[in-house]
Amino acid sequence: MTKGLVLRMVLMICYFLRSSFQQEPPFVYNNFDQAGNNLHLDGGARILPQHGGGPLQLTNATLRQMGHAFLQQPIDYKPSEPVSFSTHFVCALLPAGETSGHGMAFVVSHSTDFTHAEPTRFFGIFNTSSNGSTSTRVLAIELDTALAPELKDISDNHVGIDVNSPVSKLSANASYFSDREGRNIDVKLLSGDPIQVWVDYQGNTLNVTLAPLKVQKPSRPLLSSTSIDLTEIVQGRRMFFGFSGATGSIMSYQYILGWSFSKTMASLQSIDISKLPKVHHPSNNKHQAPSLALDALLSLIAFLVLGLLFGAYMYRRNLYAEVREEWEKDYGPLRYSYKSLYKATKGFSKNEFLGRGGFGEVYRGTLSKSREVAVKRVSHDGEEGTKQFVAEIVCMRSLKHRSLVPLLGYCRRKRELLLVSEYMPNGSLDHYLFDHSKTSLPWWRRVMIVKDIASALSYLHTEADQVVIHRDIKAANVMLDAELNGRLGDFGMSRLYDRGADPTTTAAVGTVGYMAPELITMGPSTGTDVYAFGVFLLEVACGRRPVESTLSAEKRFLITWVCDCWRRSCLVDARDPRLGEFSVQEVERVLKLGLLCANLAPEGRPSMEQVVQYVNGNMDLPEFWPHSPGIGVLTPMAVSQIPSLSLSSSSGNNSMFVTHSVVYGRGR
Ligand SMILES: *[C@@H]1O[C@H](CO)[C@@H](O)[C@H](O)[C@H]1NC(C)=O
Ligand SMILES: *[C@@H]1O[C@H](CO)[C@@H](O)[C@H](O)[C@H]1NC(C)=O
Ligand SMILES: *[C@@H]1O[C@H](CO)[C@@H](O)[C@H](O)[C@H]1NC(C)=O
Ligand SMILES: *[C@@H]1O[C@H](CO)[C@@H](O)[C@H](O)[C@H]1NC(C)=O
Ligand SMILES: *[C@@H]1O[C@H](CO)[C@@H](O)[C@H](O)[C@H]1NC(C)=O
Repeated sequence: MTKGLVLRMVLMICYFLRSSFQQEPPFVYNNFDQAGNNLHLDGGARILPQHGGGPLQLTNATLRQMGHAFLQQPIDYKPSEPVSFSTHFVCALLPAGETSGHGMAFVVSHSTDFTHAEPTRFFGIFNTSSNGSTSTRVLAIELDTALAPELKDISDNHVGIDVNSPVSKLSANASYFSDREGRNIDVKLLSGDPIQVWVDYQGNTLNVTLAPLKVQKPSRPLLSSTSIDLTEIVQGRRMFFGFSGATGSIMSYQYILGWSFSKTMASLQSIDISKLPKVHHPSNNKHQAPSLALDALLSLIAFLVLGLLFGAYMYRRNLYAEVREEWEKDYGPLRYSYKSLYKATKGFSKNEFLGRGGFGEVYRGTLSKSREVAVKRVSHDGEEGTKQFVAEIVCMRSLKHRSLVPLLGYCRRKRELLLVSEYMPNGSLDHYLFDHSKTSLPWWRRVMIVKDIASALSYLHTEADQVVIHRDIKAANVMLDAELNGRLGDFGMSRLYDRGADPTTTAAVGTVGYMAPELITMGPSTGTDVYAFGVFLLEVACGRRPVESTLSAEKRFLITWVCDCWRRSCLVDARDPRLGEFSVQEVERVLKLGLLCANLAPEGRPSMEQVVQYVNGNMDLPEFWPHSPGIGVLTPMAVSQIPSLSLSSSSGNNSMFVTHSVVYGRGR
């Protein structure tokens, strides 16, 4: 029992020793971890330690270095035995930095003593006097990566069969025959990529075949020589098989990753490619720290630059982003790009800021050809209704009257609408009326402006294709052109806010002091425009705002105060003291017309057509008195607004949205 066990152990040990110390072919090395005992290494040759099995390195990046790796024991061919062999190996040649190397060779030699060999272009096998004489006794399959013209090299990337001489007996540029493509495909030896090499020798025929790692052995060899007598070359039937490599003044890393060898092609074992060691690029290792740092830095810079470019792109995209919809196609010519407006106003700069109206900020802009425009930015939340609004502005463009500020076009962005109109160099009328630091306008000029505006409003109400209600007549919306002619601007703006017919759900819009009482209940009409125009007349004649909360109670409300003056038979005293030369009669006519238009009852007001007749003096005013019904009576709205809203008299910015419920409740 124990005897049997001991015997079995001895047999196992013998088997182990045999497999460890003998390299009887066939054998296959998928890596060289277990090959150390079977190989004779010298020079720079060593087996690199690597997890899972390392490669065999013939040379590293050292100048004038040789490396040999041969089977410890020579292979003896019995006299009866044909001399043949088949081998398959995978090698990798890596350039060291900028330089290439000389290459390596598979060698069949009578000895492993290469002390006479020179490094450099002789692969660690030959020397300068190796001239093919039989004293050298070496067959080499060279993988040559340097062009040596004195050795009759065909290129710096070729494979050759050398017999006792570095001058190849037969050579070809490195390539393989692709069975699939039916042609030769070039292979770069010094690429660092693993390359498979097959060397088959049988009956004086030596075939050398090459292929990249993932390619099956090609059916056609790269080199095939039929006149190789190996026994004559090595002068005997005992020969050493192995690899040799050398560096000279140029160097490379030379690796054998796997090796399979057999005396016959039939018994050649295949290399398991998946188990081959990986070759790391030592030239990278050498400069790893700085190059890694440099790489990281470069990547970082590239990343930053890309980020910046992307950011800039997104910023510009966002900056100039617009909203464009299908239905706007028809309005193409009226559409301004946001970019052009942005540039025209120098990015809506403070220097171009003209003022703040009830509906948005106005900027001066200079389009190409030095055309000056006014750009109004209206922030607008609701998307719905915009379509109708844009349609209306477009329609308004067809309105042509010399006393209207021409609308040129529009642009739409998210939550924003931009209206482009002609630039009025002299600004709005309210500054001339209420701002006492500015030169005041003489009476005759004011009358001209009143006539202009009356005619423009009459045009909107009657002559345009459809009735257009302005909705926000006031001095602040009357612009003065270069010749100080009055131009009515901003029409249609309030429309944007009080869409819909139901007055209980819609916010009425306008400016306190100019809003007719029925505006809340009935909505806007030509009548409400006439009311506001009446208040505007009083403003122009009296040079003050309709409501001035800082003034004493009797003077606070313009309408009641003018009417009081009339009651006291001193109507003309209500006038602006800065009128210059004026006709009392004319001033009184304008004041009376203002009161008539601002009649509390809509039916008591004249039409704009009639107003035009009155201001032009073509028609006499109807008979009415300060105590006539509706004359000089404040709208309940104006009264109710004052205490709670504490309007500042100095602020011209008293446009507001008055919701129906609030005002209606107070009004009662
Ligand atoms: C190359 O190998 C030799 C020994 O063969 C060693 O002394 C040298 O340090 C190695 N050089 C590099 C760069 O690995
Ligand atoms: C090679 O060189 C040897 C001397 O080193 C000489 O005897 C021989 O004739 C030469 N052979 C050829 C083919 O040049
Ligand atoms: C060249 O190598 C051969 C052996 O291969 C040797 O006999 C000879 O002396 C060497 N010549 C020189 C110059 O080293
Ligand atoms: C080998 O390649 C080189 C260029 O790499 C070329 O000039 C030469 O003609 C090629 N030789 C053969 C035989 O194809
Ligand atoms: C060498 O290649 C030729 C051509 O493909 C082939 O006929 C021959 O059998 C091959 N010989 C060996 C030993 O592989």
